[in-house]
Amino acid sequence: MGRCRAPDGPHPGVRRVPDPYNGPMAAYPVRVYGDPVLKQAAREVDEVDASLVRLVDDMVETMYDSEGAGLAAPQVGVQKRLFVYDVGEGPEVMINPTIVEVGGEWYHDEGCLSIPGLRLGIVRPNQVHIRGYDLDGGEISVEADEFLGRVFQHEVDHLDGVLMLERLEDDMRKQALRVLRDRSLGLDTSAMEAKLVSAESEREL
Ligand code: NI
Repeated sequence: MGRCRAPDGPHPGVRRVPDPYNGPMAAYPVRVYGDPVLKQAAREVDEVDASLVRLVDDMVETMYDSEGAGLAAPQVGVQKRLFVYDVGEGPEVMINPTIVEVGGEWYHDEGCLSIPGLRLGIVRPNQVHIRGYDLDGGEISVEADEFLGRVFQHEVDHLDGVLMLERLEDDMRKQALRVLRDRSLGLDTSAMEAKLVSAESEREL
């Protein structure tokens, strides 16, 4: 897999530092439900330097290793406002993203790499207009709907310390939390999961 676009020249406000790493790309372990880092809001990125480029490359590697379609920095324990995604058109990064407008409504199954195996039906806005920055410090503006719109909302939630469980309706959230509790106790949750989880298998985020 190729690297994400690297800085190709000086950009205003971007401090260039030597790359402190020389080794091959490395995948991170993905932090899972129960890890406090997933409940914390991440901080804005104020400069794109070589270590940030390296982080993005490693996050892309981690996303592919996990067969996910999106991954936010807090999911690898890094409290920075950025995420990577690939919905079939190659890896992309979004730094300091802001959702500026949403519209419509879409009920769709959603899965999270940090809550493995639980794909749950969630209602969210369908159309999303998001703005952010790329690795060159250039502004990105993307309008998306359906799955990509879902990816953007899910990953921005991660940057705010919000998990998809909080987007579930009360009854379903209670059942999902019970599955997670029983799992942590080593109990067999397959019967409960069968009632909750649909057969659809969209990639996790
Ligand atoms: Ni997730």
